[in-house]
Amino acid sequence: MKAIDIRNKYLNYFKSKGHVIIPSAPLIPENDPSVLFTTAGMHPLVPYLLGEKHPQGKRLTDYQKCLRTVDIDEVGDNRHLTFFEMLGNWSLGDYFKEESIKMSFEFLTKELNIPVEKLSVTVFAGDDDAPRDTESAEYWKKVGMPEDKIYYFGKDDNWWIAGEEGPCGPDTEMFYDTGKPACSENCNPSCDCGKYVEIWNNVFMEYYKTKNGKYTKLEQKNVDTGLGLERINMLLQGKETPFDTEIFLPIMEKLKELAKNDNISSRRIVAEHLRASMMIIADGGRPSNIDRGYILRRLIRRMTRHLSKLEISLDNIDELIDLNIDVLKEMYPELVEKKETIKSVILEEKDKFMKTLVNGEKEFEKEILKAKNENKDKIDGKTVFRLYETFGFPPEVTEELAEEKGFKVNLEEIDSLFKEHQEKSRLGAEQKFKGGLADQNEITIAYHTATHLLHKALKIVLGDHVKQAGSNITNERMRFDFTHPQKVTKEELEKVEEIVNEQIKRELDVKCEEMTLEEAKASGAIGLFENKYGDIVKVYTIGDFSKEICGGPHVSNTKELGTFKIKKEEASSAGVRRIKAILIK
Ligand code: ALA
Repeated sequence: MKAIDIRNKYLNYFKSKGHVIIPSAPLIPENDPSVLFTTAGMHPLVPYLLGEKHPQGKRLTDYQKCLRTVDIDEVGDNRHLTFFEMLGNWSLGDYFKEESIKMSFEFLTKELNIPVEKLSVTVFAGDDDAPRDTESAEYWKKVGMPEDKIYYFGKDDNWWIAGEEGPCGPDTEMFYDTGKPACSENCNPSCDCGKYVEIWNNVFMEYYKTKNGKYTKLEQKNVDTGLGLERINMLLQGKETPFDTEIFLPIMEKLKELAKNDNISSRRIVAEHLRASMMIIADGGRPSNIDRGYILRRLIRRMTRHLSKLEISLDNIDELIDLNIDVLKEMYPELVEKKETIKSVILEEKDKFMKTLVNGEKEFEKEILKAKNENKDKIDGKTVFRLYETFGFPPEVTEELAEEKGFKVNLEEIDSLFKEHQEKSRLGAEQKFKGGLADQNEITIAYHTATHLLHKALKIVLGDHVKQAGSNITNERMRFDFTHPQKVTKEELEKVEEIVNEQIKRELDVKCEEMTLEEAKASGAIGLFENKYGDIVKVYTIGDFSKEICGGPHVSNTKELGTFKIKKEEASSAGVRRIKAILIK
């Protein structure tokens, strides 16, 4: 069985249990304020976990492209990945613990044919916030899990939440015993020794953790599950690492063939980062110096550097991309469609990085001279860090070059500076994730409705060619990108602003209807996210003014918006303009 077969088995199994298969949301969340990447299958479903009605019903299943960057520096070992695929099934206020456990058990033992002896499970031990989950343990016993294979752990292991605030709950995790010897008498699934590998996590989301750390009950009891595809694929194939499976093997072998100075860790980094970069670019990401663009930049640069370390000519990147598309096209057909973009973005970034290295080398020479003049035999950590942060000059390179010149670098100092830096980016990323989830508040909802008004007003003033190309909402403002070939004039902007404010003053009701995509199109709705929800879509109508396919949520009447004011109009990228606007109450 290959990964794609496991994916299909999964989706079909849950379909047979009344779930609707929904498409993977993009890796880069649409219409989600300041979130870096989709990091879990539940991410695009947050509004529905919080009670919003999903157009496809209460039982959903999908495969979701995910990217987690917390462990980026660990990639190269035998298990860490940045990009991965999460298979998931959801109950939005429908079935709960018993049925969820029953289905997971049946899928693992009957569909994937994993012997029960290979499995163990963990459940929540209970604390002041929520009771011990004896209920789940009972259901595990009922399906046939031996009692001594059911472990209880606290919040650290058996509670799931994305970030600090949001829907959450106790979870039950399923582990696969690799058959490796136990590391000690106390070896158990929470142990990191490698004997037990977590394969599936079922979260029983019935709580909401508030900003001030309190737990309240959600309106509905949900189930959110996540099964890591690369991992289960590796285990079922009896492989030691995901790099030994069909997903990575062809590229790993090609790299081995090309490498003049082989090392497995560099090959894994190249294979992993190349796949992740391609997926990000296919979903619209571009390198930059901040946020997700910076992550993409880091992935491409790290990959480039490790290619050099392997002594593989960078001219091979083109061929490596072709090979990877060939390997992954069945799983991610979007890669074929975006092939040329993927190539040009990666190659351009590679060229930029090569220039950076040249600049960094110049700066490095200056530092060496300075150290010599000061009679030092060391390059201090701050300098290494500055070369990294300002010139993108990788510390390992600085270290290598310094050693060649007879200088040492203080690695410990660098380590702590990097830890600080990583911690900052980790916190930043969590903050952003949290923002994306939690910011479904009155203000952002109002901004969301305002984007619909703006979209329509732009079409009226500038023409029907105007199409939304992205949007980003925070509590302070909205940003709206749209296709238009030239600068929008002051007069045009004034007209747009006037039309939006007119509609707000008309106190138009906002209505939501569900229909098929074809009906939606026929009714004249603007199809922004066609295919996103499959066949049945939600259409939001604002009075007689605007009609858009959209997941919501929205205000119920435009009078809730206040006054709309455009603050700025500028170029976003070729053929795309950007408007920043605010609502004043
Ligand atoms: N949301 C859960 C996870 O990511 C299923 O593990």
